[in-house]
Amino acid sequence: MRYVIQGRRRLEGQVRVSGAKNAVLPVMAATVLARRPCLLQDAPDLRDVAVMSEILRGLGARVRWVEYGGRRALEVDPSAISVTEVPDQLMQQMRSSIFLMGPILGRLGRVRISHPGGCAIGPRPIDLHLRGLEALGATIRERYGYIHAEANRLRGREVHLDFPSVGATENVMMAAVLADGVTIIRNAAKEPEIIDLQNFLNGMGARVKGAGLDAIRIEGVEHLEGAEHAVSPDRIETGTFMATAALVGGEIRIDNCIPEHLDAVIAKLRECGVTIREEVGRLQVTGSGRPLPVDVKTLPYPGFPTDMQPQFMVLACCARGTSVITETIFENRFKHVEELCRMGAQIKTEGRSAIVRGVECLSGAAVEATDLRNGAALVMAGLAAEGTTVVSGVTHIDRGYEKLELKLAQLGADIRRE
Ligand code: UD1
Repeated sequence: MRYVIQGRRRLEGQVRVSGAKNAVLPVMAATVLARRPCLLQDAPDLRDVAVMSEILRGLGARVRWVEYGGRRALEVDPSAISVTEVPDQLMQQMRSSIFLMGPILGRLGRVRISHPGGCAIGPRPIDLHLRGLEALGATIRERYGYIHAEANRLRGREVHLDFPSVGATENVMMAAVLADGVTIIRNAAKEPEIIDLQNFLNGMGARVKGAGLDAIRIEGVEHLEGAEHAVSPDRIETGTFMATAALVGGEIRIDNCIPEHLDAVIAKLRECGVTIREEVGRLQVTGSGRPLPVDVKTLPYPGFPTDMQPQFMVLACCARGTSVITETIFENRFKHVEELCRMGAQIKTEGRSAIVRGVECLSGAAVEATDLRNGAALVMAGLAAEGTTVVSGVTHIDRGYEKLELKLAQLGADIRRE
């Protein structure tokens, strides 16, 4: 599967952002904890969601799309869940599914999961996940590439994370809601998706507070019921549309978004010379073409998101000067650099930083997406380039963007899937 893009078209019009991939996945994992059906409104139709649905079905849940209020929603009935193992083949397709350990352990007292290993953006250690679950009383053994965890009943404890890992915070939160006593997670991740998870857990009858702050307090309860939950809009999809308008120029309105989740991105886009009007639930973005240079350093939320780094690299490639992009979250998240250079970009990497000298115009080429966000960045580069760009590896993009080519085409871009 590939995208064929003819570049240099201005964007005009409106686009609606889908529910967030990074919010829906942990919420789907959390349904494992419930005794009754759950309804996830505005769940996006993504490949990662399909993989997570397969995993849940494998555990014994019933998962199906339903019509709700004129939109699609995902219904998960976890009442019959009894299987404690996630098949290796599904685990490898979605490494973030490691956060299923907490809810399976919390509900069934044991879990066997294959080690997620590395991925296109570098090694993905899970030490913080495992140490967090151990702190709650789980016994963990790692053997032959599998991780086994067991605990008759988890016990509430203080868990201090060395780094505010998003997945480890979610894993420990989900394990702790059915534990005996109070858990406090210190140095917790503060991403908006953590608040989404807290809201869903509390909707099922859990007692969680503090999401979005440094410390999260979870008081264990005996059992959880089902809940209805509206998945928050995807802040990274929103940011990708904003950055695209900034890059190719044009005037677009982005509906169904939460501007406050994008403060760092909006501030950087304004530095690039983009005009942004923030309204309740929507953004109006006007880009005039070549952006000004901008230095970016990725950090945990509320800092600049690593999931927007590749898209800003493309902005820097076309900027009127030199920018420095520094990646501090993942070790190996510059795979797009080589592909962008094939399109005429001038980038020099030095360790965790890339020095990007803006060029007047990129030129179309055949390039390959190797992960979700670098795929989106290559699409952006194609939209800005002179001539035809062919982006292969579109399945990576399908993991996290719902109908990207249709949404871009609706804004006037010339992009088709082959
Ligand atoms: C989540 C997001 C991903 C985003 C990332 C950082 C989901 C499904 N994915 O991934 O899109 O890019 O947050 O915002 O929500 N680390 C350890 N040990 C651990 C866990 C993590 O060293 O046990 C390290 C990682 O290698 C990485 C850093 O911590 O360098 C951040 O990882 P983490 O916040 O856990 O990201 P994910 O939850 O995997």
